[in-house]
Amino acid sequence: MDIRGVVLAGGTGSRLRPLTKVTNKHLLPVGQKPMIYYPIEKLLGAGIEEILIVTGVEHMGDVVNLLGSGKDFKCRFTYKVQDEAGGIAQALALAENFARCESVAVILGDNIFEAKLDKYTDKFRKQKNGARILLKEVADPQRFGVAAVEGKKITGIEEKPKNPKSNLAVTGIYFYDSQVFDIIRRLKPSGRGELEITDVNNAYIEKNLMEYDKLEGWWSDAGTFESLGKVNELVLSQPPQ
Ligand code: DAU
Repeated sequence: MDIRGVVLAGGTGSRLRPLTKVTNKHLLPVGQKPMIYYPIEKLLGAGIEEILIVTGVEHMGDVVNLLGSGKDFKCRFTYKVQDEAGGIAQALALAENFARCESVAVILGDNIFEAKLDKYTDKFRKQKNGARILLKEVADPQRFGVAAVEGKKITGIEEKPKNPKSNLAVTGIYFYDSQVFDIIRRLKPSGRGELEITDVNNAYIEKNLMEYDKLEGWWSDAGTFESLGKVNELVLSQPPQ
């Protein structure tokens, strides 16, 4: 099974203003590198060398200036513009032609984590079809998509619940087969007007086609001042890679 990589780096970065007033969140520094390097390097580490970068129109120029063709990373980048921040699933829909009916490994551009991706990628390759997501125990599940789990099965995911059913956050690392694009086409915008990745994941759960792993090592998003500070500390406490 061929797996193509997708890094979603759109959105408004509103929780990080004024840092994101004139630049894209994913270009901000984390440790010694721009934030977007981290998800890209995770895909490369899993042998995924065809990578689509999705970002908003405002900062696409800067993103292309930074990353180029992929030559410096020994991979190939493709770029797609998301005109407005209409949600993670809307951004992913832009990957349909790029995916060429293959599966995709999707990483949110603000997710920084310690583990290598290849172990999880190998497990996904062994699945005949469906999706696979990575969960992580967190202290503040209300900030995330939260999974309810019974044994080896996820029974449902709630997006930012007030009363979380578990402390298992859905990380922004997702593997999908090609039916994901049909699923997104059938979605309706949520209360906040976005096409939600949680609705995509719940559609797979309803079809009994969702598998999961618990992500090893540390993980964090970097979308708030607190979490951005935390990932900086975590990354700087590691030897440079
Ligand atoms: O980090 C994991 C969490 O990410 C999950 O637990 C949640 O289920 C998922 O909804 C998401 O929650 P956030 O509130 O953190 O999503 P946020 O709006 O901050 O977007 C995260 C990344 O997704 C962002 O860095 C870039 C990308 N994105 C987001 C939107 C809304 C896009 O590319 N386009 C978009 O329109």
